[in-house]
Amino acid sequence: MKQIPLVDLKAQYSTIKEEINIAISKVLEDQALIGGKYVNRFEEQWAVYCNTKYCVGVSSGTTALETALRALDLPYGQYVLTQSNTFVATIEAILNVGLKPLVIDVNESGLLDPEKIIAFVNSNRWLIGCILPVHLYGQVFDTKYLRENLSPNVKIIEDACQAHGLSNFNYSDAACFSFYPGKNLGAIGDAGAIITNNERISEYCKKYINHGIGDNKYVHEMIATNYRMSGINGSVLSAKLIHLDTWLEKRKNIKLSYNEKLWKYCVSKERSYDHLYVVRIPNRDKILKIFHDNNIFAGVHYPIPIHKQDAFKDKILKVEYLKTTEGLSSEILSLPIYPELTIEDVEKIVSIFVEEVEK
Ligand SMILES: Cc1ncc(COP(=O)(O)O)c(C=O)c1O
Repeated sequence: MKQIPLVDLKAQYSTIKEEINIAISKVLEDQALIGGKYVNRFEEQWAVYCNTKYCVGVSSGTTALETALRALDLPYGQYVLTQSNTFVATIEAILNVGLKPLVIDVNESGLLDPEKIIAFVNSNRWLIGCILPVHLYGQVFDTKYLRENLSPNVKIIEDACQAHGLSNFNYSDAACFSFYPGKNLGAIGDAGAIITNNERISEYCKKYINHGIGDNKYVHEMIATNYRMSGINGSVLSAKLIHLDTWLEKRKNIKLSYNEKLWKYCVSKERSYDHLYVVRIPNRDKILKIFHDNNIFAGVHYPIPIHKQDAFKDKILKVEYLKTTEGLSSEILSLPIYPELTIEDVEKIVSIFVEEVEK
């Protein structure tokens, strides 16, 4: 029986094999292996694509988040307000730079509510140094509304690790991307980027990810680290970027096909760059197993909110009962969505889902 994975990286590679192989061999011929011209070129292209002044290529989405948070230079131990239904890296980054995560509940689409953030910050201003909203599943969080109504002292870093395609970043201090292979734009290993319109933040990030080196190679201007992007990833990302808009269009068409029968179950209902198509059903684990038995590999993003993870629960300030966050975690299911998914595959997924859920 044909398998339908959650993401099919082999299928994507087979459509652009020659371009990718050329992109890799160019780097090998030039031996521009770390940073260098292929990373610089991708940084320029990604800044243009995202409509921002600056882009700094880094080693992953996690290191992008850590570096951007450090660049804010918040007092050690200040709070960063975020959500608990995210990939663990969002909260790891906050803790790893010596700041404190504070979580509030999300709306039914899994996004933070800007009004709620503003109300919370206004009554607890001393606590919060930064807001870290996640464009979860590729859905667009309304950063403009947040910035225009939030105290100007409070910074905003966007976790755009799932939202390649988004191109309005005028309302935050910086935004972070992951190019993990399964993302809308994926590298061939770990990679990430920070984009910003703030020159100081860009300069800080460039130095921080490269041992604090500025103009003089042997002068380390700060105690920093190595979070550099590899040349091969820079080159491959440039080759793939040419296809991103076509891939996003295909993702959108798949979403529209799913919507025909599954809209009433859909969680990811906000305007989206369609990284994941997420539905909500009470008997989630049963449906997941039925899909699996039919060689369909759906996923769950994410089954355990971070404040419920043993390693994190004492480290996160939870200021209310996270009713929606917790409700979603036990009932959500991510259906396969990737540009190469065929309409027959979509029909099969929908028919099994409808038959099992509505019987
Ligand atoms: C929302 C979110 N934040 C952060 C990350 C971390 O990115 P990376 O895996 O490249 O470190 C991811 C990637 O999975 C993500 O989805």
